[in-house]
Amino acid sequence: MSDVLLIDKLDGRIALLTVNRPEKMNALNSEVRKALFAAFRELAADDEVRAVVITGAGEKAFIAGADIAEFKDARAVEQYRAMQAGDIYSLMEAFPKPIIAMINGFCLGGGCELAMACDIRIASEKAKLGQPEVNLGIIPGGGGTQRLPRLVGEGQANRLIMSGALIGAEEAARIGLVEQVFAPDELREATLELARQIASRSPIALQAAKETVLAARRMPLDEGLKFERAWFGLLFSTDDKNEGVGAFLEKRPPDFKGS
Ligand code: COA
Repeated sequence: MSDVLLIDKLDGRIALLTVNRPEKMNALNSEVRKALFAAFRELAADDEVRAVVITGAGEKAFIAGADIAEFKDARAVEQYRAMQAGDIYSLMEAFPKPIIAMINGFCLGGGCELAMACDIRIASEKAKLGQPEVNLGIIPGGGGTQRLPRLVGEGQANRLIMSGALIGAEEAARIGLVEQVFAPDELREATLELARQIASRSPIALQAAKETVLAARRMPLDEGLKFERAWFGLLFSTDDKNEGVGAFLEKRPPDFKGS
């Protein structure tokens, strides 16, 4: 296991990933990216794990962006190649299980982009979010210009990307950048409670839900509805459907196996 990314298994079914560079506000350097790649590959194949929560170490930051120190001497072609090889954000979207961002502090630049590549975002009242890349003479490069307008609308995305302004968690919730906000001392338990609830559902239904909801971004409505119906039909071939329906009719809790 890498020091810059801690992986804890909670209740057997939840993987808690903690980006662990608190002295650098958990900035995403190449080592963290590499560790995230390896972790998501491993967790995808781990049938025990049904949901992932990602957060930042310490009190101050979720992830304060890409590691700016690595930008200093980077040249265009090297930077382009690094970004092509290291699209952790698309990997997270393609990851077949739900991912929750537990946003405990600064959530900026690549950190905000990473949160947007998660399926659900839960924030502390103390969190600050933003895309401050313009302050560095660049723009978001981890999907911010594409995922932010899809979440909050073009005008709000432009306000954040063009001004580089940081916003608080309540405002982020109001515009749809985060789903829920909790007091700092309640954040962990509230997020884990949601993760536990999700992890108790059928893993194959969760994968279907993730894929179909994500498809809504890229498919026209009629294609998306067809895709949804195809998944819906497919789930009728699973043991989990029989277990879920059977458990309801027998008035007992279901025991989903993911098959
Ligand atoms: N990349 C590299 N290092 C970073 C970083 C980043 N994105 N964000 C913070 N750090 C480092 C600081 O350089 C500092 O390191 P040092 O102690 O060796 O000097 C350390 O983390 C603590 O940050 P500091 O700026 O002293 O804390 P602060 O509370 O005054 O401010 C922030 C916190 C997050 C507002 C500020 O660090 C910041 O603006 N960071 C950059 C955010 C950004 O532009 N992200 C997008 C990058 S594309």
